[in-house]
Amino acid sequence: MKFITNDMQTESGDKTIDESRQGEAVMVEPKRGHGKKLLLESYGCAMNFSDSEIVASILTEEGFGTTRNAEEADVILLNTCSIREKAEDRIRNRLLAFKKMKRKNPSLIVGVLGCMAERLKETLLEQEKLVDLVVGPDAYRDLPNLIEQVGTGQKAVNVLLSREETYAEISPVRLNSNGINAYISIMRGCDNMCSFCVVPFTRGRERSRDPESIVNEAIELANNGYKEVTLLGQNVDSYKWNLTKKGEVKDENLPTVSFSELMELVAKACPELWIRFSTSHPKDLTDDVAEVIAKYDNICNYIHLPIQSGNNEILKKMNRGYTREWYLNRIEALRRIAPKCAISTDIITGFCGETEEQHADTLSLMKEVGFDMAYMFKYSERPKTLAERKYEDDVPEEVKGRRLSEVIDLQRA
Ligand code: SAH
Ligand code: SF4
Ligand code: F3S
Repeated sequence: MKFITNDMQTESGDKTIDESRQGEAVMVEPKRGHGKKLLLESYGCAMNFSDSEIVASILTEEGFGTTRNAEEADVILLNTCSIREKAEDRIRNRLLAFKKMKRKNPSLIVGVLGCMAERLKETLLEQEKLVDLVVGPDAYRDLPNLIEQVGTGQKAVNVLLSREETYAEISPVRLNSNGINAYISIMRGCDNMCSFCVVPFTRGRERSRDPESIVNEAIELANNGYKEVTLLGQNVDSYKWNLTKKGEVKDENLPTVSFSELMELVAKACPELWIRFSTSHPKDLTDDVAEVIAKYDNICNYIHLPIQSGNNEILKKMNRGYTREWYLNRIEALRRIAPKCAISTDIITGFCGETEEQHADTLSLMKEVGFDMAYMFKYSERPKTLAERKYEDDVPEEVKGRRLSEVIDLQRA
């Protein structure tokens, strides 16, 4: 049985990317050379690592070569994470080191991409004067222009979020790939507004990617010898193609596709690929997902289903949209329909106002479910979130830490 330690949790963005890969640099061959070298480092969750493959695709088309060595770079880009304060602290330290390098090499261009760029917008550039370039997750197509703009001595910012951008037709460059597993982004953004979470602010509105482009990407990976793909989204269960939020058909001429149908399409098109997916939201997990897991041998018997807390009042304050009873009912459905399915979760300790009794409910839920694996975090208040505006972050740091140790010890046991 696996468990994840406290230290790993406080640093990395989320589950699919482990601590050893945080800050990993991208290495690819340029399409045509102008001799300029790019250092592109990725932090945070799998979505960010997947986005870096899009960025690398766009910039190698423009002739950039890549390097792991900051001393050698003409452009340094950090694809950043804002999920907890510590994730941002680590990136700030990295930017301070690059700022020193810039004193020696004034033509060096330093930029932030991803969630921290979106959250802090111009601040990193104007107030903190740490970077030349700030580009949010929906503006990567504009990177070549923005880099050119910085080259002419201007600062450049594009943090516009989009309701449509899915980078559907950009073929990601597979980075540092072992040629075995790859990510396929199936949707972007999140509409859930969990009160503790910064992602809806940094990634914008939820939108699903064209299923045909997803299936084609999977087929291409299979043809190139890949063995496993992970379908990625902040909330894959709410994947919907050609359907409105209310379930109405948008375009009569197009097929409608739900998440379970998408998995089925990929599973059938690529019988030789193992298919994984992340992350599922308990409020949207329907039986048909469990049914396709059970039906197709090439869909992995594994689901990551974050509970966050075992107490109903805390779940309500977190705005998670389900109760403990609902969650247990979903676990029961999974075990009934797909009995071989392993289950992992995420847990936050010390959320606003959490009492010892409420914390005990999380421990009892863990005992009841017996998770195969868990990612466990201390609550970290994030600016502008609902929790920051509405509730006091009043659980002392040492209590959050002690409760986290209890949760980790129980998971280990
Ligand atoms: N869409 C994913 C979440 C990605 S963030 C999902 O719903 O599972 C990954 C995990 O980070 C979350 O599940 C949560 O447990 C944790 N997390 C998010 N915001 C946090 C915060 N402010 N403090 C501590 N942990 C947080
Ligand atoms: Fe954040 Fe909730 Fe969306 Fe996950 S589902 S990204 S925790 S708002
Ligand atoms: Fe971090 Fe953004 Fe992912 S905040 S966890 S990199 S979506």
